[in-house]
Amino acid sequence: MRAIEIRNKYLNFFKAHGHSIIPSSPLIPENDPSVLFTTAGMQPLVPYLLGEEHPAGTRLTDYQKCLRTNDIDEVGDNRHLTYFEMLGNWSLGDYFKEESIKMSFEFLTKELGIPAEKLSVTCFDGNEQLPKDELSASIWEKEGIPRERIYFLKDNWWIAGETGPCGPDTEMFYDTGKPKCSPECNPDCDCGKYVEIWNNVFMEFFKKEDGTLETLKQHNVDTGLGLERMAMLLQGKETPFDTEIFKPVMDKLQELQQEDLIESRRIIAEHLRSSIMVISDGGRPSNLDRGYVLRRLIRRMIRHMNKIGINLNELGNLIDINVEALKELYPDLEKNKEQIKTVIIEEKDKFVKTLDKGEREFYKDINKLKQEGKDLVPGEIVFRLYDTYGFPPEVTRDLSQENGMKISMEEFDKLFKEHQAKSRAGAEQKFKGGLASTGEQETKYHTATHLLNAALKQVLGSHVHQRGSNITAERMRFDFSHDSKMTDEEKKQTEDLVNKWIEDAIPVEKLEMKKDEAIAMGAEAMFIEKYGDIVTVYKIGDVSLELCGGPHVENTKELGHFKIKKEESSSSGVRRIKAILE
Ligand code: ALA
Repeated sequence: MRAIEIRNKYLNFFKAHGHSIIPSSPLIPENDPSVLFTTAGMQPLVPYLLGEEHPAGTRLTDYQKCLRTNDIDEVGDNRHLTYFEMLGNWSLGDYFKEESIKMSFEFLTKELGIPAEKLSVTCFDGNEQLPKDELSASIWEKEGIPRERIYFLKDNWWIAGETGPCGPDTEMFYDTGKPKCSPECNPDCDCGKYVEIWNNVFMEFFKKEDGTLETLKQHNVDTGLGLERMAMLLQGKETPFDTEIFKPVMDKLQELQQEDLIESRRIIAEHLRSSIMVISDGGRPSNLDRGYVLRRLIRRMIRHMNKIGINLNELGNLIDINVEALKELYPDLEKNKEQIKTVIIEEKDKFVKTLDKGEREFYKDINKLKQEGKDLVPGEIVFRLYDTYGFPPEVTRDLSQENGMKISMEEFDKLFKEHQAKSRAGAEQKFKGGLASTGEQETKYHTATHLLNAALKQVLGSHVHQRGSNITAERMRFDFSHDSKMTDEEKKQTEDLVNKWIEDAIPVEKLEMKKDEAIAMGAEAMFIEKYGDIVTVYKIGDVSLELCGGPHVENTKELGHFKIKKEESSSSGVRRIKAILE
């Protein structure tokens, strides 16, 4: 069964069971600076899991584009992916364990035709705070999974990040029929006998900063099924790279390569697809956060193209092949193809320069070492070349060896891990920040964002559109499409306009309407496809009309005084304003 058929079956099955099909959110979360990328279907739904009413009802289903980067270094083996598609269904205070498990079982066995004997499941084993989930196990048993294929595990608990909605889960595994690697082998084992296919989270708690659990006011179900993996299993393939999603690119790589390295081909195919998906949703390479992830993906892909001897001029061709393979799942790709090519090829050109420069620096260092009579390249140099010039450590290693030098990669690994730990701490901090509730000050900044967006359009022109925003209690950051640096005069006019609207004390109205109607009224929206048929629109007098989930102040007079602190480039074609309310 092709991936598109699995997706359609899934959505239709849940639709037939009373769920509304909602659109996939963009891979780059809108107005959520806390996470770099959407990593699960539940992420855009957090407010509704916490109790806000969803316009599409209490039963939802969708397919969600996701990117997870924690395993980026594992890509190249037979299963790890950075980008993947998650099929999900949700109960927002509607059905709970029994119906959820029954529907999953019916979908897997009847719709997808997986024999029940191929399925094993895991349930929550309990901990100091909560009992074992006997109820889920007994439901599985009633459905026809015998006790010996129901495993209780401590790990069956799901939360995105550190705090937020969470709960015990039950996971479904496909038994590939391979022999057990040991008598203890169970679905938790990594040997490849069991492949996880679906996770149903019974989200009835909220984990607070202090680690304690609060019971949510509603019982939710949040599920996630990985599309690529399911396609692989149903097609009887060993890896997702053998499915129609990756196969055309993998075949082309095999045809072009000078050296036969399967890991490199997988890395190229995987990173190419992820880069295409990120760029199509508005991502651009840079040295920060999201942009840096994209830069790493593209550069790692290029390194592996070099490694197996594929001419970098083939990139355009590979993008064509990949878009062709993916456009059935993501029709937008065709439309964005030329832009995707431009971004990837520009980044390739930059990287080629980096490699040249890094190589020159490398030779300076190595000549010095040789003059000093040394034959060891210390990890510090490897790290400096990497950190300052972006020069890949593997390349330093190869060049060192070619030049008859030894190299201390252990020392480099140590420095690199220290560096990573620091950036990870930063990223986690960010994650925590964003799922926190919106305070009074953040609410003001939300409204100020709409005013700033409107003011920039008046001052700079209608080409201005929001590209992102980041709000804390202390300041706002606003990214928008515009090609050149703003003049002092333009900045002043923008500030003055926002402050005039604040002084005008304009009421902020929350309206609900059909999406088409909102578009017809000229409402501004960053990612129109993210929204369902009924949308929430915030109207600020004649000044601004924007699709937005809120929250907002009731009247602009609450904002105080608006001041632009900085205007700078964010990435190519995107400017960034940092501003405060005083
Ligand atoms: N949110 C759950 C997961 O990502 C379904 O596994």
